[in-house]
Amino acid sequence: MRAKSGSPARPRRPTRATHRRQPSRATLERRPASFPDVAARVLATLRSAPVVSGERLSVDIHVSRTAIWKHVERLRALGYRIDAERTRGYRLRAVPDRLLAVEIERLLDTERFGRHIVYFSETDSTNVQATRLAQAGAPEGTLVVAERQTRGRGRLGRSWVSPAHVSLYASFVLRPTLAPADAPQIGLAAAVAVARALAPLAPGKVAIKWPNDCLLDGRKVAGILTEMDAEIDRVHSVVLGIGVNLNTSARAFPPELRATATSVQLVTGRKVDRVAFTAALCGALEAVYDRLLREGFGALVAEWNAYSCLTGREVTVECAGQRTGGRVRGLDARGRLVLDGPRGEEHIVAGDVTLVGGCCALRTGAKSNDG
Ligand code: BTN
Repeated sequence: MRAKSGSPARPRRPTRATHRRQPSRATLERRPASFPDVAARVLATLRSAPVVSGERLSVDIHVSRTAIWKHVERLRALGYRIDAERTRGYRLRAVPDRLLAVEIERLLDTERFGRHIVYFSETDSTNVQATRLAQAGAPEGTLVVAERQTRGRGRLGRSWVSPAHVSLYASFVLRPTLAPADAPQIGLAAAVAVARALAPLAPGKVAIKWPNDCLLDGRKVAGILTEMDAEIDRVHSVVLGIGVNLNTSARAFPPELRATATSVQLVTGRKVDRVAFTAALCGALEAVYDRLLREGFGALVAEWNAYSCLTGREVTVECAGQRTGGRVRGLDARGRLVLDGPRGEEHIVAGDVTLVGGCCALRTGAKSNDG
């Protein structure tokens, strides 16, 4: 449960009085949770003063007092703590630790990212749901979030361990004006955005491991999975899936991941406000994505290299059963990993990197939360 006023890291923004309508979801397996417009307005009014009378709510929102009571009950069922004080009215005491659209929206500072949110308390994979929404015409920046994934997907066919209510599982629908061959740059750019969002929570501890893993203290804290719907020369849509271990306890990771995976809370000892983090991530993503489309990946290379834990290190890279190796120079302007190898300079497009002789983190198993 989060306190009503939130942490200092959560600046208040003007509350949006309306809740966006979601597109047709006829094709979805499970209906995402909806948040009625009136409930959003009741909530906004309750936030505007310490105590608000039923009479005032009813006049301001133009619904009967019985309807107000029903919506207060709905909010309580979602986990909002609302006291009813007999002579004075309703008092919002605490908001639930849930990634509800109405909570994320009020902190957003973006034009497109997160301006349309689809929330699941549970789903198979937010990437699967976002892909369906993309095919159904969802606008760019549409965000799918879930409290828990039952079949979270990682890179290279791995799974992504996704326990409930502790982390962020998010997928964005994008419609980039990039050539299909350059689409992997979106994942690289997104890693910079994740690093930017994590940096204030764990200053000096954030690193990126090519292509787009984020590490804290050398262990994997976030992973990115981009999936593309394209023709040979045209991208229809990209789904950018991001998993960030925020408040995951060591016990919530399966034993085989405990040495290589971590969460922000495990590293810093402080619980992360997941809503504030999600809104901050939307802002960081929109900034890097717009820059990528406007100026090209070259404009982000210096920042990517500054976060990289691989520069100057000896690595091996595996891709589709092929193995190569060498000393990492950095990224080139197209996002390829540049190696000084036995055959001279190599530019690697895709693969799985392992450091020769240890850390960033060790690679084990078929789950992807590890580094
Ligand atoms: C990796 O292997 O490092 C990528 C992991 C990506 C996980 C995220 S969680 C949200 C989105 N939905 C998924 O099923 N996967 C991505």
